[in-house]
Amino acid sequence: MELHVADHPLIRHKVTVLRDKTTPSPTFRLLVDELVTLLAYEATRQVRVVEHEVETPLTTAIGTKIADPAPIIVPILRAGLGMLDGMTRLIPSAEVGFLGLKRDEETLEAVTYANRLPDDLTGRQVFLIDPMLATGGSLIAAIEYTLERGATDVTCVCLLAAPEGIEKVQQEIGDRGDVKVVVAHVDEKLNEQGYIVPGLGDAGDRLYGIIGD
Ligand code: PRP
Ligand code: URA
Repeated sequence: MELHVADHPLIRHKVTVLRDKTTPSPTFRLLVDELVTLLAYEATRQVRVVEHEVETPLTTAIGTKIADPAPIIVPILRAGLGMLDGMTRLIPSAEVGFLGLKRDEETLEAVTYANRLPDDLTGRQVFLIDPMLATGGSLIAAIEYTLERGATDVTCVCLLAAPEGIEKVQQEIGDRGDVKVVVAHVDEKLNEQGYIVPGLGDAGDRLYGIIGD
């Protein structure tokens, strides 16, 4: 697993506003959307392309277009949904799969409640999106689902990560497949409840409100 921490003043600025507990949901959603656009620039650096010729008004130009099969973007519900528009805006030809994972707040284990992934991901570039990488349980489960369906090229895009979670992903996934994790910031630690510190709180609740269990 390869870790890439984005380092850009605009990203740092927007993450700071996200962390602020007084930032209301509409602004929070907008910032998540803007951040994923900035992170996607890095995350898609190795998106597969093929040569493509177009006629300009003057002549022929050789360019590139995204190769087939189209990449697949997989938001981890709920909070990952907040990053979906930003990703599909950059790769409109991408297909979208869905994984619903809910962390059991007692055991901190990820519980799967929805899985709408294609059975066969052989040859597909996969982009997993979830704002928070805390204990790593949810992201590891999501990566496993894609690897067991034949994916070998998986890029995870997260906003905040805890060092403990990154290490767990590293241990559990190791060198199986070409797995990259792109994050806006690596925070200090996890607290006893498995929350990222300083973090931003519960990303799903801040995006969509509190629904309870
Ligand atoms: C959050 C977050 C991740 C997960 C991270 O989702 O969006 O999916 O927790 O925690 P982990 O690294 O310890 O697994 P949550 O389970 O709260 O569900 P939600 O998106 O529906 O709020
Ligand atoms: N999930 C969140 O939404 N926030 C955290 O800090 C940890 C897990």
